[in-house]
Amino acid sequence: MTAAVYYSYTGNSRKKAEEFAKASGTDLIEVTMKKPYGKLSAFLVGCPKAMGRKSVPVNIDGDLKKYDSFAVFMPVWAGHPAPPFNALLEELPKGSSVELYLCSGGGETTTGEATKAFCEGKGIKLGGYKDIKA
Ligand SMILES: Cc1cc2nc3c(=O)[nH]c(=O)nc-3n(C[C@H](O)[C@H](O)[C@H](O)COP(=O)(O)O)c2cc1C
Repeated sequence: MTAAVYYSYTGNSRKKAEEFAKASGTDLIEVTMKKPYGKLSAFLVGCPKAMGRKSVPVNIDGDLKKYDSFAVFMPVWAGHPAPPFNALLEELPKGSSVELYLCSGGGETTTGEATKAFCEGKGIKLGGYKDIKA
Protein backbone atom coordinates (compact mmCIF):
# COMPACT_ATOMS: atom_id res chain seq x y z
CA MET A 1 0.00 0.00 0.00
CA THR A 2 1.23 3.48 -0.89
CA ALA A 3 1.23 6.68 1.15
CA ALA A 4 2.11 10.21 0.05
CA VAL A 5 4.53 11.74 2.56
CA TYR A 6 5.76 15.31 2.60
CA TYR A 7 7.68 17.98 4.42
CA SER A 8 7.14 21.54 3.26
CA TYR A 9 8.68 24.79 4.41
CA THR A 10 6.77 27.25 2.23
CA GLY A 11 3.83 25.14 1.04
CA ASN A 12 4.85 23.97 -2.46
CA SER A 13 5.65 20.36 -1.57
CA ARG A 14 2.48 20.24 0.53
CA LYS A 15 0.40 21.34 -2.45
CA LYS A 16 2.01 18.76 -4.75
CA ALA A 17 1.58 15.98 -2.18
CA GLU A 18 -2.06 16.93 -1.62
CA GLU A 19 -2.73 16.87 -5.37
CA PHE A 20 -1.03 13.49 -5.69
CA ALA A 21 -2.95 12.01 -2.75
CA LYS A 22 -6.25 13.31 -4.08
CA ALA A 23 -5.63 12.04 -7.63
CA SER A 24 -4.42 8.60 -6.53
CA GLY A 25 -6.58 8.10 -3.43
CA THR A 26 -3.57 7.46 -1.19
CA ASP A 27 -3.20 8.48 2.44
CA LEU A 28 -1.35 11.72 3.15
CA ILE A 29 1.28 11.93 5.89
CA GLU A 30 3.05 15.10 7.00
CA VAL A 31 6.57 15.32 8.37
CA THR A 32 7.20 18.40 10.53
CA MET A 33 10.31 19.57 12.28
CA LYS A 34 10.23 19.50 16.07
CA LYS A 35 12.09 22.84 16.01
CA PRO A 36 11.12 24.49 12.71
CA TYR A 37 13.74 26.66 11.03
CA GLY A 38 13.30 30.41 10.78
CA LYS A 39 14.11 32.21 7.53
CA LEU A 40 17.75 32.73 8.43
CA SER A 41 18.39 29.37 10.06
CA ALA A 42 16.88 27.53 7.06
CA PHE A 43 19.77 28.89 5.02
CA LEU A 44 22.50 29.07 7.64
CA VAL A 45 21.80 25.78 9.42
CA GLY A 46 19.41 23.86 7.16
CA CYS A 47 21.40 24.13 3.93
CA PRO A 48 24.65 22.76 5.38
CA LYS A 49 22.67 19.92 6.96
CA ALA A 50 20.99 19.18 3.62
CA MET A 51 24.36 19.09 1.87
CA GLY A 52 25.77 16.79 4.55
CA ARG A 53 22.62 14.60 4.43
CA LYS A 54 22.16 15.10 8.16
CA SER A 55 19.01 14.24 10.04
CA VAL A 56 16.90 16.54 12.24
CA PRO A 57 14.29 15.68 14.89
CA VAL A 58 10.87 15.31 13.25
CA ASN A 59 7.28 14.40 14.00
CA ILE A 60 5.43 12.16 11.55
CA ASP A 61 1.63 12.31 11.66
CA GLY A 62 0.92 8.77 10.45
CA ASP A 63 1.92 5.13 10.90
CA LEU A 64 4.56 4.45 8.24
CA LYS A 65 4.60 0.73 9.10
CA LYS A 66 1.22 0.32 7.38
CA TYR A 67 2.79 0.98 3.96
CA ASP A 68 5.46 -0.55 1.74
CA SER A 69 5.65 2.13 -0.91
CA PHE A 70 5.85 5.90 -0.60
CA ALA A 71 5.53 8.95 -2.83
CA VAL A 72 7.74 11.45 -1.02
CA PHE A 73 7.53 15.20 -1.68
CA MET A 74 10.36 17.38 -0.42
CA PRO A 75 11.85 20.82 -1.04
CA VAL A 76 15.37 21.15 -2.43
CA TRP A 77 17.77 23.03 -0.21
CA ALA A 78 21.25 23.77 -1.53
CA GLY A 79 20.74 21.23 -4.29
CA HIS A 80 19.80 18.40 -1.91
CA PRO A 81 16.61 17.12 -0.28
CA ALA A 82 15.84 19.23 2.83
CA PRO A 83 17.05 17.65 6.12
CA PRO A 84 13.64 16.17 7.13
CA PHE A 85 14.09 13.79 4.19
CA ASN A 86 17.13 12.28 5.93
CA ALA A 87 15.09 11.91 9.12
CA LEU A 88 12.26 10.27 7.18
CA LEU A 89 14.64 7.70 5.68
CA GLU A 90 15.45 6.50 9.22
CA GLU A 91 11.75 5.92 9.90
CA LEU A 92 10.57 4.27 6.67
CA PRO A 93 10.19 0.48 6.87
CA LYS A 94 13.37 -1.19 5.57
CA GLY A 95 12.95 -2.56 2.06
CA SER A 96 10.20 -0.14 1.14
CA SER A 97 10.30 1.70 -2.13
CA VAL A 98 10.19 5.45 -2.64
CA GLU A 99 9.26 7.66 -5.55
CA LEU A 100 10.86 11.00 -4.76
CA TYR A 101 9.40 14.29 -5.98
CA LEU A 102 11.72 17.22 -5.34
CA CYS A 103 10.27 20.72 -5.46
CA SER A 104 12.78 23.42 -6.26
CA GLY A 105 12.98 26.94 -7.58
CA GLY A 106 15.21 25.87 -10.46
CA GLY A 107 13.42 22.60 -11.26
CA GLU A 108 16.72 20.79 -11.76
CA THR A 109 19.00 18.93 -9.38
CA THR A 110 22.23 17.11 -10.09
CA THR A 111 22.33 15.05 -6.91
CA GLY A 112 19.83 12.33 -7.89
CA GLU A 113 22.34 9.50 -8.22
CA ALA A 114 23.94 10.36 -4.88
CA THR A 115 20.49 10.52 -3.28
CA LYS A 116 19.69 7.10 -4.71
CA ALA A 117 22.91 5.65 -3.26
CA PHE A 118 22.20 7.29 0.10
CA CYS A 119 18.69 5.76 0.18
CA GLU A 120 20.05 2.34 -0.67
CA GLY A 121 22.52 2.66 2.19
CA LYS A 122 19.51 3.15 4.47
CA GLY A 123 17.73 0.07 3.12
CA ILE A 124 15.31 2.07 0.97
CA LYS A 125 14.86 1.50 -2.75
CA LEU A 126 14.58 4.74 -4.71
CA GLY A 127 12.40 3.67 -7.62
CA GLY A 128 11.93 7.07 -9.20
CA TYR A 129 13.22 10.60 -8.89
CA LYS A 130 11.44 13.59 -10.32
CA ASP A 131 12.33 17.29 -10.22
CA ILE A 132 9.38 19.67 -10.02
CA LYS A 133 9.77 23.40 -10.65
CA ALA A 134 7.68 25.00 -7.92
C1 LIG B 1 16.76 27.17 2.62
C2 LIG B 1 16.36 27.07 1.18
C3 LIG B 1 17.27 26.59 0.22
C4 LIG B 1 16.90 26.47 -1.12
N1 LIG B 1 17.79 25.97 -2.03
C5 LIG B 1 17.42 25.79 -3.32
C6 LIG B 1 18.35 25.26 -4.29
O1 LIG B 1 19.49 24.92 -4.00
N2 LIG B 1 17.91 25.12 -5.58
C7 LIG B 1 16.64 25.48 -5.98
O2 LIG B 1 16.32 25.33 -7.15
N3 LIG B 1 15.74 25.96 -5.07
C8 LIG B 1 16.11 26.15 -3.76
N4 LIG B 1 15.21 26.65 -2.85
C9 LIG B 1 13.83 26.93 -3.29
C10 LIG B 1 12.89 25.79 -2.89
O3 LIG B 1 13.45 24.51 -3.21
C11 LIG B 1 11.55 25.91 -3.60
O4 LIG B 1 10.99 27.17 -3.33
C12 LIG B 1 10.59 24.80 -3.20
O5 LIG B 1 9.48 24.80 -4.07
C13 LIG B 1 10.13 24.97 -1.76
O6 LIG B 1 9.30 23.91 -1.38
P1 LIG B 1 8.33 24.07 -0.11
O7 LIG B 1 7.39 25.22 -0.42
O8 LIG B 1 7.60 22.78 -0.03
O9 LIG B 1 9.17 24.36 1.09
C14 LIG B 1 15.57 26.82 -1.51
C15 LIG B 1 14.68 27.32 -0.55
C16 LIG B 1 15.05 27.43 0.77
C17 LIG B 1 14.07 27.95 1.78
